[in-house]
Amino acid sequence: MSKKIACTGIKPTGAPHLGNYFGMYKPALELAKEFDTRYFIADYHALNSIKDAKRMKELSYEVAASWLACGLDPDKSILYKQSAVPYTFELNNLLMAFTSKGLMNRAHAYKAMVQANLENSKDPDDGVNMGLFTYPILMAADILQFDSNVVPVGKDQIQHLEMTIDIAQSINYNYQDELLTIPEPITKKETGLIIGLDGRKMSKSYNNTIPLFLPKKKLRKMVMKIITNSQTIEEPKDPDNCNVFTLYKLFATAEQQANLRERYLAGNMGWGHAKQELFEVMDTHIAPMREKYDDLINNKDYIDKVLNEGALKANEIVSAKLEKLRIALGLK
Ligand code: TRP
Repeated sequence: MSKKIACTGIKPTGAPHLGNYFGMYKPALELAKEFDTRYFIADYHALNSIKDAKRMKELSYEVAASWLACGLDPDKSILYKQSAVPYTFELNNLLMAFTSKGLMNRAHAYKAMVQANLENSKDPDDGVNMGLFTYPILMAADILQFDSNVVPVGKDQIQHLEMTIDIAQSINYNYQDELLTIPEPITKKETGLIIGLDGRKMSKSYNNTIPLFLPKKKLRKMVMKIITNSQTIEEPKDPDNCNVFTLYKLFATAEQQANLRERYLAGNMGWGHAKQELFEVMDTHIAPMREKYDDLINNKDYIDKVLNEGALKANEIVSAKLEKLRIALGLK
């Protein structure tokens, strides 16, 4: 029996931080053991906001290198750039005819922009391009083109998945045939729960992120900036209410955690020491990936080769799917 299919995309909007790694890259890559996996760089989605060609290109390389450095094996998973599979855009067009405008009006990214415009007494559609408005349709095309069974995403993408399901179901219903596979979102419990320097959710919009591939020295500096309380060295500390310990748990073994917990409770351990412990486990975990990332980002020919091979495979799968759909819809 063939394996089930998992698919996910990441927009090239900046080097990944720890929140992206634990929330997205790591869980998505774990799926490669069990599923046929298709990962892509959602450059067309990013085009809605990135209008600088050089930056677009650089950011796309950064995401590709991140996937590979985090452990994507291009022999087992398909990695490609969304823009390199033109059939996706044909499917996007096909899906448009089955997507009500009202559904798009409810998409949260669009709604949030309209809301912000209204609050600022601007035209409701100020700054809204059609790519942003129809964002969920292209996302549905990304997913449905592969007959994806599961889609690992962050919580903020659940609504888009529900829209994908809606669109697919209306097509299946109209033609009374299972033309499109109904996908299922998977969200990891950790998704969204990775805290940043200030204890809030790690997010670029809070400016509290720890980039995954920071050089070692900079990483240490950053760890030293994590906000703690003002307890003295002597005072016993509460590991269950501490940003440093919360992050420590992501990297440390159970034994390491038990050890540090004891030192917290015993007192006579300053925050600088706790942060040093965190930095060490973090660096042990990240160093091999960082090394790989640095190699890759200086070897764009290799990245191009992986992406080109990925695009070839993706185009082959999706062109067959489109051919079936064209026939089913009476276009052929
Ligand atoms: N919208 C997703 C995000 O911003 C990226 C994305 C585009 C995606 N197409 C997708 C994710 C298809 C999963 C499946 O994170």
